[in-house]
Amino acid sequence: MYIKNIKIKDFRNYEVLDLEFNEKVNIIMGSNAQGKTNLMEAIYISSFGRSFRTSKDTDMVRFNTDQAKVKMEFHKDLGDLDIEILISKDHKKIIKVDGIKIKKTSQLLDNVYIVIFSPDDLKIVKDEPEKRRKFIDKELCQIKPSYYSDLSNYKKVLLERNTYLKEINVDPDLIDIWDRQLAKYGASIMIKRNEFINKISLISSDIHGGITNNKESLTIKYDPNISFNDDIKEQEIIFYDIIKRSFDNDLRMRTTTRGPHKDDLDFFIKNEDNTINVRNFGSQGQQRTAALSLKLAEIDIIKKETGEDPILLLDDVLSELDLERQEYLIKTLSYNQLFITTAEMQQKILVEFPDSTRFKVQKGKVEKML
Ligand SMILES: Nc1ncnc2c1ncn2[C@@H]1O[C@H](COP(=O)(O)OP(=O)(O)OP(=O)(O)O)[C@@H](O)[C@H]1O
Ligand SMILES: [Mg+2]
Repeated sequence: MYIKNIKIKDFRNYEVLDLEFNEKVNIIMGSNAQGKTNLMEAIYISSFGRSFRTSKDTDMVRFNTDQAKVKMEFHKDLGDLDIEILISKDHKKIIKVDGIKIKKTSQLLDNVYIVIFSPDDLKIVKDEPEKRRKFIDKELCQIKPSYYSDLSNYKKVLLERNTYLKEINVDPDLIDIWDRQLAKYGASIMIKRNEFINKISLISSDIHGGITNNKESLTIKYDPNISFNDDIKEQEIIFYDIIKRSFDNDLRMRTTTRGPHKDDLDFFIKNEDNTINVRNFGSQGQQRTAALSLKLAEIDIIKKETGEDPILLLDDVLSELDLERQEYLIKTLSYNQLFITTAEMQQKILVEFPDSTRFKVQKGKVEKML
């Protein structure tokens, strides 16, 4: 699977763009603020139906225009596919697959697999828990469509319950309708998260060993907000019981205080002396290496689960790594198609990818370099 071409209209700082891509490696160069990340974002939304850097779709519509459009053509073994996204300022987003409008974003998710890697990802260990939950959710949505529906149902029920908790008179019997649903969807989410984290921990651990020459070993652990049992029925009972017991507190706080919407991930590194929690006691280098291992494991797990290497977007990430880690990354990356953005052309990139196509971005215009 690879992207053959992209057509853009009024997306971020692009007025019009029509590009053919190299089926293996594309290098996108340009100074700051010219449109490199915007181009990665345009590619990304065709796989997720949403951006990786804003939750407000209309942010992506070019200033002073009404509608953004991105259309991409993909080559797939079973036949080519095109995906088109229209984002209007005044109506909803429209997504078309092969010209046919899809009803739910979830119908888009198993068409193409894209992984984006940007400097922010290197901060995931230190970032707030929400970032780590987003990471897990995004991955699971990609590889398990049933997770996507559990998650959107859970979020919907949570929002309704929280809205109800803000009313003046809250009836404990009425709230039970939401409690039961929350327990059901929440248990399913937790079971899938646990399974996924166990898998990604094993892969990350191998990668981490590779980067550190086995001087350190990494373990990633699920840190659920409520006690966890890997039997789904048991988990539903546990969660339902906790919701009931937290009712008084929820009422005081006017929000649902317990549940998987507060889950987290923990990173531990063991060397010959001791084991440390990387978030609290790791050096900056250790935190970044753990994050890099997690990110590379993400690529691996997509391949394992879907049978396909993803399309990989490396947005400005090489310049963030020291030489040793850059080498490791370039040497071990596995992808169907690769996009690398960089502000400065490094000799190393040119040497490593001799058959790549190079583009130069300047003020929302892209030119192929010869
Ligand atoms: N909706 C929009 N309409 C028009 N321009 C926008 C919109 N959103 C962002 N921009 C502009 O797009 C420009 C390019 O942004 P982008 O993030 O792609 O830069 P970049 O090339 O990745 O730069 P850097 O190397 O600093 O990461 C910015 O100057 C920004 O102001
Ligand atoms: Mg950028």
